[in-house]
Amino acid sequence: MSPTVDLVAALEHAVRAPSVHNTQPWRWRIRAGSVELHADWTRHLSWTDPDRRDLLLSCGAALHHLRVALAAQHLAVTVDRFPDPDHEGHLATVTIRPGPGDPAEAALFGAIHRRRTDRRRMSRRPVPPRMLRAIAEHARRQGTNLHPITNPDTRERLARALADAAREQRNAPGYSAELQLWTRRHAGARDGISAASVAAPPVGATGGSPLRLFPRAQLRQPPLPAGSGPADDAAELLIVTCAHDEPVDRLRAGEATSAALLAATNLGLATTPLSQAIEISSTRRTIRGRILPAPEYPQLILRIGWPASHAGELPVTDRRDLRSVLLPTAANSGPTETWRP
Ligand SMILES: Cc1cc2nc3c(=O)[nH]c(=O)nc-3n(C[C@H](O)[C@H](O)[C@H](O)COP(=O)(O)O)c2cc1C
Repeated sequence: MSPTVDLVAALEHAVRAPSVHNTQPWRWRIRAGSVELHADWTRHLSWTDPDRRDLLLSCGAALHHLRVALAAQHLAVTVDRFPDPDHEGHLATVTIRPGPGDPAEAALFGAIHRRRTDRRRMSRRPVPPRMLRAIAEHARRQGTNLHPITNPDTRERLARALADAAREQRNAPGYSAELQLWTRRHAGARDGISAASVAAPPVGATGGSPLRLFPRAQLRQPPLPAGSGPADDAAELLIVTCAHDEPVDRLRAGEATSAALLAATNLGLATTPLSQAIEISSTRRTIRGRILPAPEYPQLILRIGWPASHAGELPVTDRRDLRSVLLPTAANSGPTETWRP
């Protein structure tokens, strides 16, 4: 007997994906046996993300979340990326096909609702290299690479690139305007970044933080253990890269980001995507030429570490109602639609 496919339920999980400034720049169209993913260009951050890279990464992360949710329903899928050359906003069509779901993708399902962006200090306990390798393998399965930057000199260069990018963005008026817009949403907006998800730098922190600075911060930092300082944070920095830098590569980098973040969450690790040093062209060039071991195209930096001890649970970030991101179709009979292959 063929299973009932609940595409709406799968999309409810897909929209839990991370997105730059929680813009959720996606629209979906449900058809019989397939789901289309479209970019919502009205949610593009033109000052912060002039190349539209973050927008495509965010949509790629949602695409991977959808694949995971369908795999957890024991469904195999075919993904056609950029299926329509006349519509660059039509990013992918996911079609259900006969066969079992990918068990490696299904195993990530439980992490979708546990994953959060953690902007607090992390533990001084090092992440074992075998865990970094396992997470990188998840990214590789999506057709990208994920490079841990563990050499102290190289890491120092990366920290400098992050600080340089932050400085450049601070001086760009449009950047600050976008940051204000997406951190001071009107009541009931269900998007953007709430102050409850942002921590101020830990007391006593010197030197630049690799984290993006947000205008409002209400999240408590975990207490520092006796005898340690903020610099003891042992979080690793990893860079998602692609061999090329076309829109399809950026979409795939988003899928890889989702896979890596969910795999890290399954291992009990905390994660923070960091995009500033890739958004600015000069620091992106530095990363490509002087930090990466191969001349690949950097797409996103991931900070991954153990949560600090006594770090409280992070608040769940809001998502827009699924109905407001569904595109109409003649066959779309409403939010409870199911489809039987
Ligand atoms: C492409 C991309 C870039 C991001 N860049 C940053 C960043 O530079 N700094 C940061 O703190 N969070 C960054 N994030 C995380 C988002 O702000 C976060 O996913 C969003 O607010 C939703 O929260 P959640 O991840 O806890 O669900 C980024 C996420 C994505 C997908």
